[in-house]
Amino acid sequence: GAAELGPYRHFMQKEIFEQPRAIADTLQGVDGIVPELFDQQMNHAPGSNAAHVFKEIDSVLILACGTSYYSGCTAKYWLESIAKIPTQVEVASEYRYRESVPNPRTLVVTITQSGETADTLAALRHAQGLGMTHTLTICNVATSAMVRECELTYITRAGIEIGVASTKAFTAQLAGLFLLTLALAQAKGRLSEAEETRHLIAMRHLPAALQAVLALEPQVIAWSEDFAKKENALFLGRGLHYPIALEGALKLKEISYIHAEAYPAGELKHGPLALVTSAMPVVTVAPNDALLEKLKSNMHEVRARGGVLYVLADADSHIESGEGIHVIRMPEHYGELSPLLHVVPLQLLAYHTACARGTDVDKPRNLAKSVTVE
Ligand code: G6P
Repeated sequence: GAAELGPYRHFMQKEIFEQPRAIADTLQGVDGIVPELFDQQMNHAPGSNAAHVFKEIDSVLILACGTSYYSGCTAKYWLESIAKIPTQVEVASEYRYRESVPNPRTLVVTITQSGETADTLAALRHAQGLGMTHTLTICNVATSAMVRECELTYITRAGIEIGVASTKAFTAQLAGLFLLTLALAQAKGRLSEAEETRHLIAMRHLPAALQAVLALEPQVIAWSEDFAKKENALFLGRGLHYPIALEGALKLKEISYIHAEAYPAGELKHGPLALVTSAMPVVTVAPNDALLEKLKSNMHEVRARGGVLYVLADADSHIESGEGIHVIRMPEHYGELSPLLHVVPLQLLAYHTACARGTDVDKPRNLAKSVTVE
C-alpha cells in the first residue's frame, strides 16, 4: 500500500534508495574476514565447516539466473584477481542440461535472491549429482529451499524485495561475494594483513559512498528524458564493469521495454559499431581504472559514427561533457568495489526512463519476481 512506499512512487525506487541500509545490514557484524561468516546455518553437516571447505577446494563454479547471474560474473573478476582461484560462472538453465567435466574440489556457489528459482535449484542438484559436495549459497531468504540444500550459507540482509527488477538484492549479493573472495583469499594465504585492513575499511565506507551516488538522481533524470524517446540503447563496459553494463541493459529492457544490449567495449569493432547512429545512445561505464585509456578510444569510435555517449566517469577521469557526450561524474573512485557504485545510476536510469514511458515499473509485463517453474 501507499503507506509502505513512504515518499517513493514505486517499490523499485524505494529499494534503490534502501541500498545504503541493505549493504550496512549485510555487512553488520563483519569485524574481520572470517570463514565462519559463511557457516551460519543450523543444518550443515558436521565437520563441513567453512574453514575446512575453503582449504579443500581449488576452484569455484557459480550458478545463477538473471540479475543474480550478473553478480556472479562480477565476482569472477574478484575471485581470480584477489583470491587467485579459477572461477566459472554459468547460467543455471544451461549448466543443468549440458555435459560438463566435474571437479570434486570445486566450491559450487549458487546466487539467488529468492532461494526458490527452479533452474538454480536444479543446477545445484545436478552439480551434487556429479559428485560436487561442497556447496555454498549467497541468498536473501534464510528460510528458502536453497538455504536448506546448501552446505554453507551467506544470508544477504537486503530485506524483502518487491519490485520484480532486482536492485538492492544485487548490491547485497556483491557485498557477500566480495567477502567470500576475501575469505577464500585468506584461507589460501593470499591476503596480507595490510590488504585485509584496506578492504575492510573500503567495505565499511560503502553505505556512505552509496548515499553520495544516490544524490546524483537529478542528473540521471535528465538523461532519462532522452532515453524515453529511444527504441534502442547500447551499454559498454570493460573488465569488472562489463557485467555492470550487462545489468544496466537488463534493467532498461525489463522495465522500460527499450531494446538494450551490452558489450565489452573492446568488442565494439566486431559487430555493434554497425548499429551506431545518432539514434543510438551509448552508455559507457568508465571508472578510472587500468582500462580507461582503452575505453576512451572506444568512445572516440562511437563519436566518429555520430553516436551519442552517456558516460559514468569517476571524479578524476578527465572526460568532459561536450557535443554528443554527456558525463555524470561519480563522487569518488572506488577501486575493486566500484561495481557496487556504478550500477546505481544505471538502476536509476532504467527506473526514470520507465516512469517517463508510463510502464508498470514494479510489475513489468510477462515477468515474475520468482521463477519457480522451469
Ligand atoms: C527473475 C527476477 C529477476 C531475478 C531472477 C533470478 O527473473 O525477475 O529479478 O534476477 O528471477 O531470481 P533469484 O531469486 O534466483 O535471484
